[in-house]
Amino acid sequence: MAVSIGLFYASTTGNTEQIADQIAAQLPERIRLHDIAVEGVSAMVEYTCLILGIPTWDFGELQEDWDEHWDALAALDLGGKRVALFGLGDQLGYGEWFQDAMGLLAQQVRSAGAEVVVPWPIEGYSFEASRALTADGRHFVGLALDEDGQHGETEERLQAWLPQVLAAFDA
Ligand SMILES: Cc1cc2nc3c(=O)[nH]c(=O)nc-3n(C[C@H](O)[C@H](O)[C@H](O)COP(=O)(O)O)c2cc1C
Repeated sequence: MAVSIGLFYASTTGNTEQIADQIAAQLPERIRLHDIAVEGVSAMVEYTCLILGIPTWDFGELQEDWDEHWDALAALDLGGKRVALFGLGDQLGYGEWFQDAMGLLAQQVRSAGAEVVVPWPIEGYSFEASRALTADGRHFVGLALDEDGQHGETEERLQAWLPQVLAAFDA
């Protein structure tokens, strides 16, 4: 049987929450949702496969609930876990800090021992700088979504991304 997936997210104005719901609705049998504003991050250790959703706020900063649980996240042992990330940002309004929080989250879970899977190409986005880029500079560390400026792309991006995530988790 396929292992279950924990999807942990936090959201200030509801965009990340809506995407989390959309992802979970695709696989209701497999994905369990956790709002870290309510539950924190400790249940991450119960899963081998994790999807984490984070928006960037305040010029390259963590969303407030992620920020509150940041040290608790660092203290977890995520060794042997596979993590797929999705980030919410606004490339037109905040193009110098686009998706920075997703980059910070990738670093944090790697430090806790996890493997980050499914880099996402930067084609189709326009921004000045991002801390969420991979070493080659041609990918984000996870799926970059922009509900402010590219809402119309979201469904297609999700449909392309989710099968890649499942393949990486099942590999
Ligand atoms: C005050 C403010 C600051 C923001 N700062 C950033 C930023 O630095 N980088 C970025 O990519 N997006 C930034 N955004 C865009 C949000 O990440 C985006 O609106 C996101 O969809 C919000 O997600 P949420 O509704 O789940 O909180 C900012 C938005 C606001 C209103």
